[in-house]
Amino acid sequence: MARVAVVTGGSRGIGAAISKALKAAGCEVAATYGGNDEAAAAFTKETGIKTYKWSVGDYDACKDGIAQIESDLGPVDILVNNAGITRDAPFHKMTPQQWHEVIDTNLTGVFNMTHNVWPGMRERKFGRIVTISSINGQKGQFAQANYAASKAGDIGFTKSLAQEGARAGITVNVVAPGYVGTDMVMAVPEKVRESIIGQIPVGRLGEPEEIARCVAFLTADDAGFITGSTITANGGQYFT
Ligand code: CAA
Repeated sequence: MARVAVVTGGSRGIGAAISKALKAAGCEVAATYGGNDEAAAAFTKETGIKTYKWSVGDYDACKDGIAQIESDLGPVDILVNNAGITRDAPFHKMTPQQWHEVIDTNLTGVFNMTHNVWPGMRERKFGRIVTISSINGQKGQFAQANYAASKAGDIGFTKSLAQEGARAGITVNVVAPGYVGTDMVMAVPEKVRESIIGQIPVGRLGEPEEIARCVAFLTADDAGFITGSTITANGGQYFT
């Protein structure tokens, strides 16, 4: 039977590439999204992958949304926590709202999603959880105290759950992308972006498919011995 995979933020950017890669690997994929109906409809039209709309920051919405996916496709075997936002500002200008929006989506959203698939994975003795962190959770980034804290939090979360899931056949891992050519990175002022590209040894931004490849690797049935790890894919910009 095909594995059922849920990819949050799965209709655009890195998430869309992950949804497609998991479909190509033989999974039944559900892609969730937070706001952009037009992009989601275009994605479904292009790929045939069904999309579901809710905010990962809302625990009850995650619970209900996952129940809906399970009734449509079957029990969730694979969860990819990809949904993420930025609210960049130097710390002296960062508002509590900018802090909470980023933590609620990028970190609490990971709790909300994972907590609602975890009991079923434990019962069935199989699960694959991959959370998309960031190079900036590893090295920090000017104007990203909120984002870097959330992405570093994803790594600590993963290392803890890897220990708890191991005996139940659940692997829990992180992929930490560097700068990839998505809307999020293209929103960085051009001068800043050019200077960032200058710090990437391979001399270019990453492609979403290069991140999706890591996720497909970690979520495969025969990846059961890899847990608690962080795969970095950043063009050599930062070594952990
Ligand atoms: N290091 C040191 N100083 C920096 C800096 C850096 N990386 N970036 C900006 N500065 C300095 C500027 O030179 C400027 O200094 P002066 O005042 O002396 O000229 C000051 O900081 C900026 O102050 P501003 O008041 O102009 O800042 P602002 O309120 O307009 O904010 C910004 C601008 C939000 C910082 C903007 O420059 C920006 O968006 N930077 C990019 C941040 C970034 O890399 N975000 C990553 C987004 S992509 C992503 O997150 C995906 C992923 O996972 C990799």
